[in-house]
Amino acid sequence: MWAGRHVVLGVSGGIACYKSCILARRLVDAGARVDAVLTESAAEFVRPLTFEALTGRPVVSSLWEPGGALSHVRLGHEADIIIVAPATAQLIARVAQGLADDVLTALLLARTAPLLLAPSMNDEMFAHPATRTNLDTLSRRGVALVGPETGALAEGPSDRPGRMSEPETILAHAARLVRGGGLAGKRVVVTAGPTREPIDPVRVVSNRSSGKMGYRVAEAAWERGGEVVLISGPTALAAPVGVTLRLIDSTRELEAAVRAELPTADVLVMAAAPADYRPSSPSASKRSRMEGALAIPMEPTEDILGSTRDQRKKGSVMVGFALETGDALAKGLAKLERKDLDLIVVNDALEPGAGFEKDTNRVAMLGRDGTRKILPLQSKRAVAEAILDVVEQSFGR
Ligand code: CTP
Repeated sequence: MWAGRHVVLGVSGGIACYKSCILARRLVDAGARVDAVLTESAAEFVRPLTFEALTGRPVVSSLWEPGGALSHVRLGHEADIIIVAPATAQLIARVAQGLADDVLTALLLARTAPLLLAPSMNDEMFAHPATRTNLDTLSRRGVALVGPETGALAEGPSDRPGRMSEPETILAHAARLVRGGGLAGKRVVVTAGPTREPIDPVRVVSNRSSGKMGYRVAEAAWERGGEVVLISGPTALAAPVGVTLRLIDSTRELEAAVRAELPTADVLVMAAAPADYRPSSPSASKRSRMEGALAIPMEPTEDILGSTRDQRKKGSVMVGFALETGDALAKGLAKLERKDLDLIVVNDALEPGAGFEKDTNRVAMLGRDGTRKILPLQSKRAVAEAILDVVEQSFGR
């Protein structure tokens, strides 16, 4: 989504400046055109040359250099977003008062672009009533804030907020601001990952689902302005920014979590791979090795989409997945009907680049209304965006 976007990255002088270099890099990698604007004290922490090398563009750090006086007006109007990271207590105070005593504050006073501040300061400074008042003033004026978070500060560990959010977190908040909120006001529930069914206290029956597809859907839905709940089985993935994560283990727990969320869900994206069978009577103690073959009696688990059908909110959009091995489209169509879905995302686990554990997927999307879209092999994030495009369309957005 950053491709072709113009970002002004304002940097004020705090130790978190080193993280702004990473933020600049991430934005450029994602395809954005980044203009870094540094205060005088930021340039003491990180030389403008560093940002110039990272962004491939000249850095603006003074009103008095050629073009400086006009660039503050131009940049504040042209940009898709202005991110100030770090925003120090001093910078925040100056912006709250409407000062324009250097190129960054002048740009912020003249701006029409949306503004995201990532405060970063000593925890006492952040807790000070002066800073609180300044931040309240800015919030009331529509300025968006990300962080600060609790964690290590330059002067040592702290259990109070002050530390600047990580570049990935700032990036996700910036994306949510820029993207226009196609899912704003919608509650989106996503399930992801495998379930585990106990054989005994130390062994489980599970599958190879990595959770990647569902996590990418949750991430993209939050960036589109949704309120997102991600119900996840055990995975190795980090919680996406902004998303409420509910961890489950067994199919029974997944069913209970989906049942609890469905009455208020505008969208359910059922990307989890629940086990279809569980050991009927798990042993209370660890089973010992024995001579000969082992047979474990299994019973079917709940079909979650089926058993929770009566909980669905009126007008909600239901999306399911079907991972098949051969004859995927026909099997997908049958599941679309059987599970009473609006959309089913079908893929064939035997195709190269598709299926579990991969970062890419090749899917077909089959709609209740008979639409059929075959997508090329692409990243799971791109597949997530394609799914959410269809979801947004069904809300008439
Ligand atoms: N699903 C579910 N409850 C289950 C198993 C699957 O709700 N116990 C959901 C999955 O999350 C997915 C869809 O149903 O969105 C299809 O899953 P899949 O495993 O392909 O379907 P099954 O019903 O298990 O059918 P089969 O194993 O016969 O292919």
